[in-house]
Formats: sequence, C-alpha cells, structure tokens
Amino acid sequence: MAPPSILAPSESAGNSSSTEINWDEIGFGIIPTDFMYMMKWSIAEDKFSEGSLVPYGNIQLTPSPGILNYGQGVLEGLKAYRTEDGRIVLFRPKENGERMKIGAERMCMPSPSVEQFLNAVKTTVLANKRWVPPLGKGSLYIRPLLMGTGSVLGLAPASEYTLLIYTTPVKSYHKGPLNLIIRDKLYRAIPGSGGTGGIKSIVNYSPAYKALKEARAEGFSDILYLDAETGKFIEEVTGCNIFIVKVMERPVPVEELLKAEEVFCTGTAVVVNPVLSTTYNTTRAEYKTGSETVSQKLYETLVGIQTGHLEDTKGWTVQV
Ligand code: COI
Repeated sequence: MAPPSILAPSESAGNSSSTEINWDEIGFGIIPTDFMYMMKWSIAEDKFSEGSLVPYGNIQLTPSPGILNYGQGVLEGLKAYRTEDGRIVLFRPKENGERMKIGAERMCMPSPSVEQFLNAVKTTVLANKRWVPPLGKGSLYIRPLLMGTGSVLGLAPASEYTLLIYTTPVKSYHKGPLNLIIRDKLYRAIPGSGGTGGIKSIVNYSPAYKALKEARAEGFSDILYLDAETGKFIEEVTGCNIFIVKVMERPVPVEELLKAEEVFCTGTAVVVNPVLSTTYNTTRAEYKTGSETVSQKLYETLVGIQTGHLEDTKGWTVQV
C-alpha cells in the first residue's frame, strides 16, 4: 500500500487517501492509521481475553456503556520513535502500564497486567509501523483507552471492559514557546478531596476546555494552574508539566515563577517546550528562550536518547 496522505492536521479525519504523506505538515491531530488493538474483559471470564488487531475504524457500543454514561475510563499516552539506525523504540512504556493500573483501580475497573499492556502496545505499533514518521519528522502517538463497555444504568461499575489502542503520527503539540496565563480561583485538582485529579481519568481534560477556550481567545497559549489548597503555588499546565530551571522538586510560589530566568513545560505530547511568558493579574514575566537555554539542552538530550543519537544509559527505551 502507498503511504497515505495527511488530512488536515489537528482535525479528526474519517479515512485517508493514498497520496504521499507530507511529514512536514503533521501537527497534533488524528491521522487515521491502519490498525487498532482491542482486548476485552468480562465478568464471566474475570480476565482479559487474547487481544487482537482490527482495522482502524468506528467501534460499536451499546447506548448505555459505563464509559459514555458515567465516564468510567482511563487513558494513556506514549510515543514510538524511529531511531537513527532504523529501529522503532518506545520510551518508558512500563511506566504507562503501571499508571494505567493505578488509574483503573481508582475507577473500579480491571486493568491489563503491565506485560499485557506492553505486548498490546508493541503489537499495535508493529502493525502501524509505516506510520512512524521518519527521523526528525515526529513520532507515532499511541493512545491506550481502558473503558467500561458493559451496560449500566444504576451507579455501578460496568460488567465488561475494553482496552482499545490506536495510533496516529504527530509532531509539535504547541507551535513555539508558550505564553501562559495564571488565573486566581481556577483549579485542576483538589488534594484530599477523594477526586480523580491524580489519575488519567477519561474526564481529566474536558472540564478545562471552557477556561482554555477563553484563554486562547485572549491570545494566551495555555493556562498555568495554581494549587487548590492555598492558591499560592504553581501546579501544572492543562496538558503538561511545568518546570523552572532549578534542580529541585518542591512547591514553587507564583511570585518565584514571576522572577525566574527560564521556564519550560514537559509532557509526552508536548516533549520539552519553552515558556516565553506568564501573566498573573497585572504582572507579565518574560523568560529566556532560544538555543542557549537549559530547556533546549534537555530537549536535545531527550530526543537524542529517543532516536538513538545518544546512548540510553538508563534503559529507558524499549525496542518494538
Ligand atoms: C500526553 O502528554 O500524552 C497527554 O496525555 C496529554 C494530552 C494533552 C495529549
């Protein structure tokens, strides 16, 4: 089969045609690939079945699955990279499998073992390997979804679950350095509330859309949230983590952020992205960006390990 074309990057597309893909045009959106992976758990079996690859496409659901009615589900995100010597590797996939287990436990769902998760991810990537972008042109984003697919109406865990894994080639999540806005009294997660802020629940991101839409309408790239307990410390950006250039993990008051020299975000989707400015009430702070920054060195080191340009001394990459 000829390599497929890209439909509009950052848009969902129903099917792909068969003209040449322009790898320089991909962004962070859905480009349908060849196969997805499905594996089911049922109450009768009390275990996950042998999973299998199916052609990428729509799935059938009862109108009353736990996932649609009550949001019983968790998601993961990881990437496959093409290395300089032509291999395809995953980056720390075991950690994703372990995180899915923690999230599933919180959401009262069975989860695949880490081994089943790794095997499912590898199988999906191999089946879609022509979609792993060439070196330097991006990566193959892998989206595992674990969802309650059995019918429910009363408030109770579903009696059937599906692990679904699909992939799509991606490049940059954000376009260039970020201009972040910090709002008072706008929070993502509330510690000690018994909530789900600590896991990748299916409804982790959509409640943030309204605030994100407003921030974008005001010209900001994203929102940097403060902690809900005190409203004083910086916490996270909508879809990634935040770092001030200092080798220390501790709560950072917003005043300190406004005085920092360099700030950057990280995440699977985002990779390492510099922050150009943050705005808090009437104060706008600007930070160092460009080739001489720590974030640029970190970006080069991370991508260097992922593409085999630098030695992986930590055993972080796993060959598919
Ligand atoms: C990721 O970094 O993979 C995430 O799940 C975040 C999402 C905003 C894409």
